[in-house]
Amino acid sequence: FFSPNISSMQKYIAVAFVLVSLNLFAQPSPAETKDNLPTDYLTSAFHEGRRDSLRAIMPDNSVMAVFAFPTRTFSNDVEYLYHQNPDLYYFSGYKEPHSLLLVFKDDQTDSLGNKFKEILFVQKRNAGAEQWTGKRLGTEGAKEKLGIPMSLNGNDFKNYNIDFSKFSKIIFDRFPEDIPNGFDKADLYDLIQQFKEKAAIPEQLSNQSKFDTRSYRDLTGQLRAIKTAEEKDLLRKAVEISCMGQNEVMKAVRPDMSELEIQGLHEYVHKRYGAEGVGYGSIIGSGENGCILHYMENTKTKIGTSMILMDVGAEYHGYTADVTRTVPVDGKFSSEERAIYQLVYDAQEAAFKTLKDGSKWSDASKAAMDVIAEGLVKLGIIKNKNEAGRYYPHGLGHHIGLDVHDRGSMSTMKKDMVITVEPGIYIPEGSNCDKKWWSIAVRIEDDLLITENGYELLSHFAPRKIEEIEKLISQKSVLDNYKIPPLESGKKKGF
Ligand code: GLY
Ligand code: MN
Ligand code: MN
Repeated sequence: FFSPNISSMQKYIAVAFVLVSLNLFAQPSPAETKDNLPTDYLTSAFHEGRRDSLRAIMPDNSVMAVFAFPTRTFSNDVEYLYHQNPDLYYFSGYKEPHSLLLVFKDDQTDSLGNKFKEILFVQKRNAGAEQWTGKRLGTEGAKEKLGIPMSLNGNDFKNYNIDFSKFSKIIFDRFPEDIPNGFDKADLYDLIQQFKEKAAIPEQLSNQSKFDTRSYRDLTGQLRAIKTAEEKDLLRKAVEISCMGQNEVMKAVRPDMSELEIQGLHEYVHKRYGAEGVGYGSIIGSGENGCILHYMENTKTKIGTSMILMDVGAEYHGYTADVTRTVPVDGKFSSEERAIYQLVYDAQEAAFKTLKDGSKWSDASKAAMDVIAEGLVKLGIIKNKNEAGRYYPHGLGHHIGLDVHDRGSMSTMKKDMVITVEPGIYIPEGSNCDKKWWSIAVRIEDDLLITENGYELLSHFAPRKIEEIEKLISQKSVLDNYKIPPLESGKKKGF
């Protein structure tokens, strides 16, 4: 109900309604329980395994603190849909705000003789609050569903007897600086203050080797960069779903559609296949708008006949895809569009060839850049190869996972990494080249699983080749005969 754009929401609902009512996407829904909930969530055994792997690489006699992400205001008293800190989710499965996980390298025993390896401080159950914002897991739920026996309420942290001085290292991420101090005396603000006090964290952290914010991202990145079997399954699904969105839109796209309508179509298809949302704001840029790398307004009302760049990633159970296709709305690439598209395609292929367990990411990046630079010179768009960065101004790719730009080093490719390869060429209006190239923007972005001898193209479900794209666009869409009546309020003059 808090869509930032009412008209896009209405279109979205209208499109969703017609597709559902005509039962036009006949694919099965995800596996369901008797409660009609999916059955393929990560299990508590997965999260426990991740904590054990973390302990294995933590320094001797250390503790790591992982805080929830803050809640954020969307409007007046309305919050944005909450997104958990992926680290906290990864190591616990807990999805609620105002929480803290402490992971210990060594087994701990408290004054009552309880033995434990981690403590999770959760939101206390509260019937009033739960009526407004949803059920809370509470300590019992955390013990039972997440398998963390030492689960306590957040307001127990204050008086919880834990001697941080005995640890050689206390590892935590940099604290966000803009956390509101709400009414609740056990909210994230209080948990952070109490942690700072209990652990005696100094204001200035430089040269304080005991207080370690540097290892946090390194340790979590080492783990999160290498995907387990369960994570690969979820990523495969997120990527395939995103490709299905691309394919349906390629069939449906018409020059009189709006960018927001295209966005709604992608996201409808994602949800039809069980994805909960998107992993980042969908980027739907037609013509010149494609030159804005993270364009998310998507406000153009008629996309016209130029190309449309669609960078959209379904998020499935927390794991996000990141797939871009650029297609000609009128169904045929013009000769200029074709030349630029082919160049980006060739650059992507050149990068693909370098990839395997042990390969250097810099080799992939160079392979793509060399193809683009040479091609742009040949087309007369630049004079010297070293000018290519003007039209290809971003890196070749990144990890994906719980974050769209996922944690972890890219320097050496390792088996079971899942990465994007996304070269692009963007020629904004007014560029220092022949006008015929202006407003052409192409990015082709695919998601790959690195294997021992090469890679698996997870996003092969959506076509990349020129002929294949033209063929798919020429196919009929379920929306071809879909007409909705004009709005009464839209008929007013001077509106
Ligand atoms: N969708 C953001 C990116 O491609 O990195
Ligand atoms: Mn990307
Ligand atoms: Mn992308």
